[in-house]
Parts: sequence; structure tokens; C-alpha cells
Amino acid sequence: MNILGIETSCDETSAAVVCNGQVLSNVVSSQHCHSAFGGVVPELASREHERLIVSITDFAVTEANITKNELDVIAATAGPGLIGAVMVGLCFAQGLAYSLGIPFVPINHIEAHIFSPFINEGDSHQHPEGSFISLTVSGGHTLLSVVAQDLSYEVIGRTLDDAAGEAFDKTGKMLGLPYPAGPVIDKLAEKGDTSFHKFPRALTSQSQTSKSYFGNFDFSFSGLKTSVHTWLQKQTPQFIELHLADIAASIQWAIVSVLVEKTILAARSRGIKTVSIAGGVSANSTLRKAMKDACDKHSIFLHIPGIVYSTDNAAMIATLAGVKLTRGMKAEHCYNVAPYASFAAGARKAGLK
Ligand code: KG4
Ligand code: ZN
Repeated sequence: MNILGIETSCDETSAAVVCNGQVLSNVVSSQHCHSAFGGVVPELASREHERLIVSITDFAVTEANITKNELDVIAATAGPGLIGAVMVGLCFAQGLAYSLGIPFVPINHIEAHIFSPFINEGDSHQHPEGSFISLTVSGGHTLLSVVAQDLSYEVIGRTLDDAAGEAFDKTGKMLGLPYPAGPVIDKLAEKGDTSFHKFPRALTSQSQTSKSYFGNFDFSFSGLKTSVHTWLQKQTPQFIELHLADIAASIQWAIVSVLVEKTILAARSRGIKTVSIAGGVSANSTLRKAMKDACDKHSIFLHIPGIVYSTDNAAMIATLAGVKLTRGMKAEHCYNVAPYASFAAGARKAGLK
């Protein structure tokens, strides 16, 4: 079964072909037009998707060494995301499915991230270890969920304010770094000292009484943002320039240490021995290493997506469509965009429990 996946929820235009759970092609075009603005400009994002969607799709089909007539199903992100951006991919995908006379499958973007560590493992993939804890960290979401074998899930923690990726991007902007700042901070931090300055870690063992801390899997990053802002205002530009790598490493560690601590806490308190990380921030080298070290220490098995499948990509959309169809989900011919769909609501509409 050849599935074409389309992803346009934010600032990546992507198309992929997945056949029986194996990726045949995955074409991703990242929009650079936003870097001057320090964040994604929704109108520009929609226009870029519109400009590229046909050629990216053609490229993905050609790369997969098939023709459009050999496609069996088309899947696209239906939300959450920027409404205009999602609509470009969703309408294009449904139009193409209609013209080819093949079924269409709407996919929840966050759910696709959650499943991304299992890309290339086949449509009938089962998690051998049963339930797992998923840390999903992107530019718009920070979620801890317990995911069961049948893909049903329970969200047990979420950010109360900024997402982890947003914390990277906004503190990076304060340092004068281009958008998205996450990968730039990751690179800079390689040469920095994580203990150069201790920025706050909200809702952790260091900031809570043990009673409220142990039942609390929520995150908060807005205090970190304010703290970085206030601290930077007290420093000279020369000092900041001289210690840029140390500051980047300190900010990164303030974010990563919280993500790791909460994920391990969730796994241990639920007695779950498998953890996965997903979403754009899971590309972070320090997060990948620190999570692996912590999991090893507690004899927890860790699933991590390949770097190309961490940030937004259409392979994860097509892969999840294949898994859902294998599990009996019915394809549709018409679906409305769900830009603000919460994870749970979006997933419910997309056919999960
Ligand atoms: O999942 P994603 O590609 O798009 C959304 O669904 O939001 O995530 C994008 C986010 C951005 O905030 C970006 O700065 C962050 O992921 N990101 C990283 C890294 N690569 C991407 N953050 C830290 N380190 C990275 N290497
Ligand atoms: Zn994403």
C-alpha cells in the first residue's frame, strides 16, 4: 500500500511516500523567510506552502520511484497548526485524493510525532514493551503522555505556558540568534559550560515541596524566559558576546534537565519501563544524551526518532496513516481543518480513542 503523506502545519512543506511501513521518500523544505521576523509569520507560511506544495509532492513521488497513479491512499495533517498553513496541505491532499479516486486519511500532527520513533518498523508495528511514556516537545507543544499498545493515550502533563521549543526560540531571540534558535543554541552549547549561570527550573524537585512535585508532570518555561531577559539586561554586550556559548549551554541545560527529570519521574511513578521522545526539540543533542543516560541509570528503554523524523516531516504523517488503516480505521473523503484542536480532541477526531 503506497501512502502519500502531506505535512504543512507550520513552516515545513513536506511530502513523503511510505509503503507498508517503510519510507520510500521524505522531502522536507524548511521556510527561511521567517528568520528576519524572529518567529513564524502565518501569512508568509501559507504562501510558501502554496508555492511549493505541488513541486514537493511531485518530487516525493518521483523519489519513491512510483507514479501518482500507483498511490493507494493520501494522508495529511489536519491540525493542530496554523490554520492557513494546515489548509494548504489539507485541501491539496483531499483534492488530489478526489481526483485520483483514492481514500483520504486526516492525521493529528502531535499524534504523528508521538509515533515517529517507530517509523520504518512496518504498519503492524506493536510496541514490544507495552505502554510507554512519550515526551513530545515541539515549537507549540510540550506533553507527557502514557501511550498504550492500541495507541490510546492519556495526557498526564503539559506546559502551563510556553512550549519547550518556544523557550529555545524566544531566549535565543534575546541573544540575537536567528529563528529557529533551538538548533543554533544546540550547536553553540557544545562549547559552553552548563554551570556558567543557573537559570530557574519551574515545577521541579528544586522548586517544589516533594508532595506537590511528585504528582505534578506539568511544565512551565515562562519564568525561565523572564529570568533570561532580566539577567541579560544586567550584562554588557561585550560580556554576552564573550560568553555566548556558556549562556547558551546554561539556558539549554535549564530546559533539558527539566524535561529529563519529569519524564523519568512519570515513568517511575507509573511503573513503566519504556520512554520515547519526539517533536522538534527531540533533535537536541543534549536532550538525546541526557535522556539516554537517565534511562540507562533507571533501566528504562528509550525510543528516539532519527533526527530527520524529529522535526516536522511528512513521513510521520504517512506512517501513522498506515498504522491506523492496518488497525481498522476507516479512511474519509472530506475532513475539516482543526487548527486549534487540542491533542486529545484532534486525536479523537482523527479516529483514535
Ligand atoms: O516539531 P517541530 O519541527 O515543529 C512544531 O511542530 O512546532 O519543532 C520545531 C521546534 C522549534 O522550536 C525549534 O527551535 C526546535 O523544535 N528545535 C530544536 C532543535 N531542532 C529543532 N530545539 C533544540 N535543539 C535542536 N537541535
Ligand atoms: Zn511538529
